[in-house]
Amino acid sequence: MDKVKAEFDAPDLSPEVFAENVKDCANITQHKGYSPKDFLDWSEPVDLFFDDAVHTNPIFLENLQHWGKLVKSGGIVSGHDFDPNHYDIMTEVSRLAKRWKTELHVLGAVWWIKKP
Ligand SMILES: C[S@@+](CC[C@H](N)C(=O)[O-])C[C@H]1O[C@@H](n2cnc3c(N)ncnc32)[C@H](O)[C@@H]1O
Repeated sequence: MDKVKAEFDAPDLSPEVFAENVKDCANITQHKGYSPKDFLDWSEPVDLFFDDAVHTNPIFLENLQHWGKLVKSGGIVSGHDFDPNHYDIMTEVSRLAKRWKTELHVLGAVWWIKKP
């Protein structure tokens, strides 16, 4: 694995690196699992959902539907990779903004929608 990492110079996206990156942020709690399948019983409303996990359907849409329902009214549904290389993201995010009759914002490849 080290040889693969060295050859492709891939960043380490492990849960351990995430934990290290946010160790000074007392308001962040890490939950390990595959989304959405490991979080289907999550019922606590959330202020913000930011997606940068699976960039293709069906999982991208499943995440958008699952977490989109849990975002509070006035909260933010957002993510990365709104660009022509990610057809499902551009399509589903645009559909969601239309369905919610709200504006889709894009800055670089970051997108966000305020839930009505
Ligand atoms: C494009 S990377 C995100 C990078 C991250 N935004 C960063 O800046 O470090 C995608 C990440 O999503 C994780 N991932 C992939 N499928 C997932 C899923 N179903 N549920 C949760 N995380 C997933 C991968 O392990 C990887 O860490």
